[in-house]
Amino acid sequence: MTPAPVNGHTFLDFNAPMTDARAYDLVNGLRPLEGRTVVDFGCGWAELLLRVLETEPTARGFGVDSDELGITRGRANAEKRGLTTARLELADVTTWEAPPADVAISIGASHAWGDTRKTLEAMHSRIKPGGKLLLGDAFWEKPPTDDILTRLDAKPDEFGTLAALVDLAMAAGYRLLSLATANLDEWDSFESRWCAGRERWLLDNPDHPETTEVRAVVDNHRDTWLHGYRGYLGFAYLTLARV
Ligand SMILES: C[S@@+](CC[C@H](N)C(=O)[O-])C[C@H]1O[C@@H](n2cnc3c(N)ncnc32)[C@H](O)[C@@H]1O
Repeated sequence: MTPAPVNGHTFLDFNAPMTDARAYDLVNGLRPLEGRTVVDFGCGWAELLLRVLETEPTARGFGVDSDELGITRGRANAEKRGLTTARLELADVTTWEAPPADVAISIGASHAWGDTRKTLEAMHSRIKPGGKLLLGDAFWEKPPTDDILTRLDAKPDEFGTLAALVDLAMAAGYRLLSLATANLDEWDSFESRWCAGRERWLLDNPDHPETTEVRAVVDNHRDTWLHGYRGYLGFAYLTLARV
């Protein structure tokens, strides 16, 4: 029998620090959704998009991601939950073409476009005037130490403050409808689940040839989180109106 490959996302509901309660609030902040077209750029397995469609069955949802595992998981979940209005596509978001959407979602996917400013610009041309953008992006809760920057392999200006993130959105042609930030419980749950995908795989596959490599990855991740960015790196959810 072929040994099972590791899937570090197994225990994550969302690939972002987000609880069910947060998801509920964020989806509600996108109303009205009746008959609207919602596009999730960098959707992963599209859990938030599926919740939008569960909330409003007349909405049409498109999810785009270049990760085959994510799209396959999302399609299976949509089918299981009877969400026939979900269309998940395996593609690069930067070249995927569609008419402007009523609502766009981009959570944790700014690197696809280069950075946050480029993401805001790209989304602006992909949303109808008066439409909405739900942006999930990182910021520094506290100025990072050199050690954190090294551990994350990040530049000091890679992220700004929360205020700077909102300013960036204003300057790119949006108005802020709502702002939320992931709390420490959401972060700890997210990081724990990320690690658990690997830890449990290690328990189930002690003789797998990749155990040393997988253990090193999870050890490094846990150290970077607990000795590094925990409490420094923030994650914000901006619900924006596209002017
Ligand atoms: C941190 S995950 C967030 C996933 C999802 N938005 C969520 O919150 O669960 C970032 C996602 O962006 C996707 N991504 C990155 N660059 C991309 C690109 N150029 N085209 C499509 N997807 C991309 C990755 O495959 C990944 O699924």
